Amino acid sequence: MSVFSEFTFLLFSYFSFLVQAAPHHGRSINSPYATSSHTIDLKAIPGVSNPSSRSLHCDRRRSASLANQTAPLINLDASFAAPVKISDQSFYLVVDTGSADTWVPDVFFTCLYGEIGPWASPTSQDECAFGTYFDRDNSDLMFNVTPNSNFYASYADGSGAGGLLGQTSLKLASSLTVPNQQVGVATIASWKGDNITSGILGLAYSPLTSKYPGTNIWDDKQCPFINSSNRYLPSDYKCNQETYPALIETLFQSSNNSGPQLQEKAFSIALSRDHSNNFNGGTLTFGGIPELSLPTVNVSSPFTTTPVEALGSSHDKELRFYTLSVDGFLFPPTAPGLYNTTSSTAASQMRRDFVKSRRSQRSSSSTMDVMHPTTSGGQKAQFILDSGTTLTYIPDALAAAFNSLFEPPAYQDFHTTGSLWALDCENLSYVPSLGVSIAGEVFYHNPEDLVYKLKGQEYNYDIDEWVDTQYCISAVQDYGLSDNGVGILGQPFLKNVIAVFDIGRSELGLAARPYYHS
Ligand SMILES: *[C@@H]1O[C@H](CO)[C@@H](O)[C@H](O)[C@H]1NC(C)=O
Ligand SMILES: *[C@@H]1O[C@H](CO)[C@@H](O)[C@H](O)[C@H]1NC(C)=O
Ligand SMILES: *[C@@H]1O[C@H](CO)[C@@H](O)[C@H](O)[C@H]1NC(C)=O
Ligand SMILES: *[C@@H]1O[C@H](CO)[C@@H](O)[C@H](O)[C@H]1NC(C)=O
Ligand SMILES: *[C@@H]1O[C@H](CO)[C@@H](O)[C@H](O)[C@H]1NC(C)=O
Ligand SMILES: *[C@@H]1O[C@H](CO)[C@@H](O)[C@H](O)[C@H]1NC(C)=O
Ligand SMILES: *[C@@H]1O[C@H](CO)[C@@H](O)[C@H](O)[C@H]1NC(C)=O
Repeated sequence: MSVFSEFTFLLFSYFSFLVQAAPHHGRSINSPYATSSHTIDLKAIPGVSNPSSRSLHCDRRRSASLANQTAPLINLDASFAAPVKISDQSFYLVVDTGSADTWVPDVFFTCLYGEIGPWASPTSQDECAFGTYFDRDNSDLMFNVTPNSNFYASYADGSGAGGLLGQTSLKLASSLTVPNQQVGVATIASWKGDNITSGILGLAYSPLTSKYPGTNIWDDKQCPFINSSNRYLPSDYKCNQETYPALIETLFQSSNNSGPQLQEKAFSIALSRDHSNNFNGGTLTFGGIPELSLPTVNVSSPFTTTPVEALGSSHDKELRFYTLSVDGFLFPPTAPGLYNTTSSTAASQMRRDFVKSRRSQRSSSSTMDVMHPTTSGGQKAQFILDSGTTLTYIPDALAAAFNSLFEPPAYQDFHTTGSLWALDCENLSYVPSLGVSIAGEVFYHNPEDLVYKLKGQEYNYDIDEWVDTQYCISAVQDYGLSDNGVGILGQPFLKNVIAVFDIGRSELGLAARPYYHS
C-alpha cells in the first residue's frame, strides 16, 4: 500500500509568484490541420494512483529503480479520462498514448490483491476501485467474443488486467462511433483505481496490442520488442503474443466505408492543468484539431512537425509508440561536476551558492538558458510522447543538472520518495525554466507544471503512529537503469502543447500553449 493517499493539485495562487509574465503576441495561428468537431472534453482526475495508466515501458523502468526501496511507493498519477460508450454503456477511460489496448472490467471480474499472476489471491472488487463495469449479460449489448483468444496487459509494477477479447462498438464523441473494434473485457485485474475510471483507452499503434491464443491468461507470454529486455529472459523463452488492429487503425480505416468521415487521419491532445479543481482536463479531438482559440487551448505558436520514429532498439522498424527525437533541453547553466554529488552537504551548499549567484544575474529566466544536448555523442535521444505518464523522464545526468537548479535544490530521499527527485515544498523559492528542443523549435514549460505536490503519510516512530505530511517532487526525473536511453515526455510536457498524432503522415505536430486559463 502506498504512503500517499491523495494527490493534491497545485493551487494557482501558491505558485503564481514564480510564473514569468507571458509575452502576448496576439497573432492568429496558421494551422496545417483541419479543425474537427469530434472533440471530447477530458476529465482531470486528481488524488489517484493508477499505475497501469503508464506505459509498459515506463513501468518497467520505474519499478526497477524503486524495486529495492523499503519505503512505500509514491502515488503519482493524475489521470486524464475520456467519456466513452462501449456498446451502449458509458465509461470514463484513461487516455493513454503509451499503450494500445482498450479495455474495461467485466461486471463479474475478480480483483486480485498485489502483484498480478496465478499466485495472487482474490479480494473484493471494491479494492480495484473501478468506476463502472461492463455487463455482458445485458442482452441489449453487442459484444461478440473473439473465440479461443484472450487479452492480457500486465505492467511491471505488478498491476494488470486480462480476460476476453471481443468486437463491439465504441462511441468516442457525440457524432463519432467506431462500429467494430476489438475491446478487452477484463475478468481478472490487479488495479488501484480512482472510483471514476474503468480501464484504458489505448491510442498507440497496433503492434503494441496484446492478444494471445487460448483462454488461459496465465499461458500468455509477451514478446519483447526492446533488445535489452531479451537479456533477462530464459534462453528457451517462447513468446505467443499476437496483435489485432488497434483503435487508431480501425478508426481511420472506417473513413473509407460506412463509418464517420474524418478529415485528417490524426487525433490531437491538449491536456490542461486543472488549477480550479473543476476536473477540466483539456481536449481529445479525433480527425484534426479543436478550435485553437478556445480559452482552454489557447495555442500561442505555429506548429512544428517531426517524424514518428521506430524505437532505435527495436528488432524491426515498426511503429509502436509515438516516439520522437529530442535535440536537447534548455535550462540555466550548472557548474560542471556539481550535480553528481547530491549526498554531500558541502556540494549542496556549493550548489546553492552557485545557483544564487546565477540567479542574481538573471533578468528573465529564459535569456540565460543554455542547450543541454540529450546525448554527449551528438545524436538525439528518443522520447515517447505519453499521455498516461504523470512525470517526464530524461537522461539521468540532465535530470540531476536540472534538479540542482531549484532553490532549494531537489534531492533524492530514499525514505520518502524512493529514487525520485524531491523538493522542499515549504521553502521553494525558485523554479528553473525548462524548454524542450524538438526539430529546432523550443517548447517551454509553465513553471507550475514542474512541481508536483503530494499529500501522504509518514511513520512517526516517536509517537508510534502514521502522521499526515506533504511532499513535493520535481516533474523531471531520471530515466533510470535500462531501456537503451528512451525517455518519456509525459503530462508536464503535454500540458504545455497541443500535440497532433498524425497517423496519416507518420508525424507528430506540436504547437506551444503554456498560457491558458484552467
Ligand atoms: C536489489 O537488491 C538485491 C539484493 O540486495 C541486489 O542483488 C539487486 O541488484 C538490487 N536491485 C536493484 C535494482 O537495485
Ligand atoms: C473508492 O471507494 C471506496 C468505497 O467507497 C473507498 O473506500 C475508497 O477510498 C475510494 N478510493 C478512491 C481512490 O477514491
Ligand atoms: C481509402 O482507400 C484508398 C484507396 O483504396 C486508400 O488509398 C486510402 O488510404 C484509404 N483511406 C483510408 C483512410 O483508409
Ligand atoms: C536486436 O535483435 C535483433 C535480433 O536478435 C538483431 O537483428 C538486431 O540487430 C538487434 N538490434 C539492436 C539495435 O541491437
Ligand atoms: C562529477 O562528475 C565530474 C565530471 O563528470 C567528475 O570529474 C567528478 O569527479 C564527479 N564528482 C564526483 C564526486 O563523483
Ligand atoms: C524550511 O526552512 C526552514 C528555515 O531554514 C527550516 O526550519 C525548515 O525545516 C524548512 N522546511 C523544510 C520542510 O525543510
Ligand atoms: C492566451 O495566451 C496569452 C499569451 O499568449 C495570454 O495573454 C492570454 O491571457 C491567454 N488566454 C487565456 C484565455 O488563457
